[in-house]
Amino acid sequence: MSISVVILAAGQGTRMKSTTPKVLHKISGKSMLFHAIDAAKEVSDDITVVLYHQAERIQKEIETHYEGIHFHRQDAQKFPGTGGAMKGVKTKNERTLILNGDMPLITKDSLLALTSGDADINMSVITLQDPTGYGRVIIEKGNVLEIVEQKDCNHTQLLTQTVNAGIYAVDTALLEKYIPALHNHNAQKEYYLTDIIKMAVDEGKSVHPVYVEEEEFKGVNSKLDLADAEEILQRRIKTEWMKHGVSMRLPETIYIDCRATFEGECMLENGVSIQGASRIINSHIKTHSVIEDAHIENSDVGPMGRVRPDSKLIDTHIGNFVEVKKSTLLGVKAGHLAYIGDATINEGSNIGAGVITCNYDGKHKYQTHIGKNVFVGSDTQLVAPVTIPDDVMIAAGTTVTKDVDSGDLVLSRSPQKSIKNFFYTFFKKA
Ligand code: UD1
Ligand code: MG
Repeated sequence: MSISVVILAAGQGTRMKSTTPKVLHKISGKSMLFHAIDAAKEVSDDITVVLYHQAERIQKEIETHYEGIHFHRQDAQKFPGTGGAMKGVKTKNERTLILNGDMPLITKDSLLALTSGDADINMSVITLQDPTGYGRVIIEKGNVLEIVEQKDCNHTQLLTQTVNAGIYAVDTALLEKYIPALHNHNAQKEYYLTDIIKMAVDEGKSVHPVYVEEEEFKGVNSKLDLADAEEILQRRIKTEWMKHGVSMRLPETIYIDCRATFEGECMLENGVSIQGASRIINSHIKTHSVIEDAHIENSDVGPMGRVRPDSKLIDTHIGNFVEVKKSTLLGVKAGHLAYIGDATINEGSNIGAGVITCNYDGKHKYQTHIGKNVFVGSDTQLVAPVTIPDDVMIAAGTTVTKDVDSGDLVLSRSPQKSIKNFFYTFFKKA
């Protein structure tokens, strides 16, 4: 059956206490709304996002990442509420699945469960110990009768622990009939999408409750919810990668972006953070290292290494307190305390402790190129732009400002002097 999806994302998200729109807050490196869009894309080719608050900013953000998403602007002044959000939305397929934009943990399987079967409406329900805040679902003999919002509940209805999780799959023709008929005669003076349930029941249509996992359907409304959702998603991501053969020491201390990928045999030690769309192949990332959008293959990093975006490390060893940025290292050893930025370094080269590529003059960034088998002595400064060809030795403490030739020993040092017995004269004992 063909399905259209409508994602409701027009709400203000006041409880987030942030100038960033609620749905653009990130979980495991990806906006909440993008998690919802990605799940929707798995089941549908017709996706509409409803916007109002900060609509332009959200639409622009979506358009830089996705093609073919439709947008609908809610007239929220005239028609506030989730039902108001659906006014004027056109969907092309037989069934329309309506999701909230603040449910980042939803999976494709749950969406499919909601769209299967032949009921006129499938709606998601959860049974909660504490139903506070949710619309209560009134069910009699297995049949849904209506949804009553908390603020409209009587005493008995308030005790209902079966609540509306906020996702519905509705026959599109019925939706087109019911949405224009919604009214706002309720405690919040809003147009409630949930009222379509009673309309359908009154017409003898079938409304089927689909019981869902609380974990997937919990809406994110506050920073606290955001942190809870992050924890759940991290657990999922790490479980998945461990199943694929990634070893993790103390996985609860590790962070992995949802876009990161691993191949072959990888080991992540405790406290490691793998950010962005990093690609890690047959590598060992040691304690408290941070990898950001980097490609690391047959290499080891850390402890406490930092590999920043656009870096590529192949057959390379990076030790403690080494930072690499926008650089390609092939078969290199940089064991301790170095900054390697905007550089290429080739096979067999060794970068000593305290080496720095001086890549920035306050206005522009410059490149450093280092060939094969170059020995860069400790505390060397490579003032970019500079090229060091193959087979060069740079003495400790050198400031390299000019290109050199293969086979050279390069050194820039003021000659060492000694003044005999200076210490004893200076600290002369009385
Ligand atoms: C809604 C349901 C409630 C359910 C709960 C589940 C209604 C009337 N109530 O309540 O039964 O238990 O979700 O989480 O639907 N939105 C708009 N335009 C608006 C208002 C909201 O697009 O004018 C969007 C929001 O951005 C959000 C979604 O709709 O993504 C839900 O809105 P929210 O205000 O969180 O609804 P709840 O009060 O939680
Ligand atoms: Mg909500």
